[in-house]
Amino acid sequence: MDMLIRPRRLRSSENLRKMVRETRIDRSSLIYPLFVMDGKDKKEEITSLPGQYRFSVDRVDEIALKVLDAGVKSILLFGIPEHKDEVGSEAYSDEGIVQRAIRYIKEKYPELYIISDVCMCEYTSHGHCGVLCSKDHSVDNDESLKLLAKTALSHVNAGADMVAPSDMMDGRVGAIRKILDDNDHSMTPIMSYAVKFASAFYGPFREAAGSAPAFGDRKGYQMDYHNRREAIKEALLDVNEGADILMVKPAMSYLDLVREVKDLTDIPMATYSVSGEYAMVKAAAANNWIDEERVVCEMAASAFRAGADLYISYYAIELAKYIREGKIG
Ligand code: PBG
Repeated sequence: MDMLIRPRRLRSSENLRKMVRETRIDRSSLIYPLFVMDGKDKKEEITSLPGQYRFSVDRVDEIALKVLDAGVKSILLFGIPEHKDEVGSEAYSDEGIVQRAIRYIKEKYPELYIISDVCMCEYTSHGHCGVLCSKDHSVDNDESLKLLAKTALSHVNAGADMVAPSDMMDGRVGAIRKILDDNDHSMTPIMSYAVKFASAFYGPFREAAGSAPAFGDRKGYQMDYHNRREAIKEALLDVNEGADILMVKPAMSYLDLVREVKDLTDIPMATYSVSGEYAMVKAAAANNWIDEERVVCEMAASAFRAGADLYISYYAIELAKYIREGKIG
């Protein structure tokens, strides 16, 4: 008899539920994605991500202060350049949008931990994550590696605390590790988008960054979402190449892989609740079809329960507030 009622006894009061809670969430595990754009005095709302904006560097104070006030310690920085070309030259220019934003934020808000997204799709005129072969217009993996490594180095030289390659070229973690080590940045960590699926959940991001591929898709380098063992293989390869943190992306539909990769490796795990997840919640909430606050808490808690140590979310600022108010964690 006793065996049967014990679980209910442990759920019998709010206090006790919190005391025996298995998943604890801390604000320092949250990362807020931030878009910076070329130009002056700009703050543009992203249509498909209501409540999220692109800021020019001179307007970035507003959001940096909001992030810090909320108690979030880290941002993931994306650049939206005015000029795009075939080889994504603004990605690795020392005067590129991300490099300038990093220098500005680092100088004014040294307490903010800056992770920079390393990819070429926001910078190439064709919108692919690397440069193209002249022959058949497929992405040239090895040529892209050189430019990605150069991009990562320029971010770190500008002051980035960590780099996060999201391009999915083979060998990029190793290439970035090498260039950083060769340039006195052996202590700068790499968070690898190791398990990144070719996903329709990135739709709103591509609108935000103007980075939808002009032709074809990303299935040649991003992963097929039917595959589980391939995800594990990708994760282990990145560990071998020197990744310090592994990411599974998107989050919500892929939490099985967060758990699995977590159990098979011994480095911290991140998961990215991507733009499509945010957009769906916002749209449903705007119609009063769901309770936004409760859904956001549930999504975050399930990511941590699955094994995430870090959670990247457009809701990071709100989540920090919910944690403070004891609504989650
Ligand atoms: C760049 C990149 C993308 C996202 C993060 N880095 C887009 C893509 O791969 O198409 C998506 C993030 C989001 O949807 O919130 N490659």
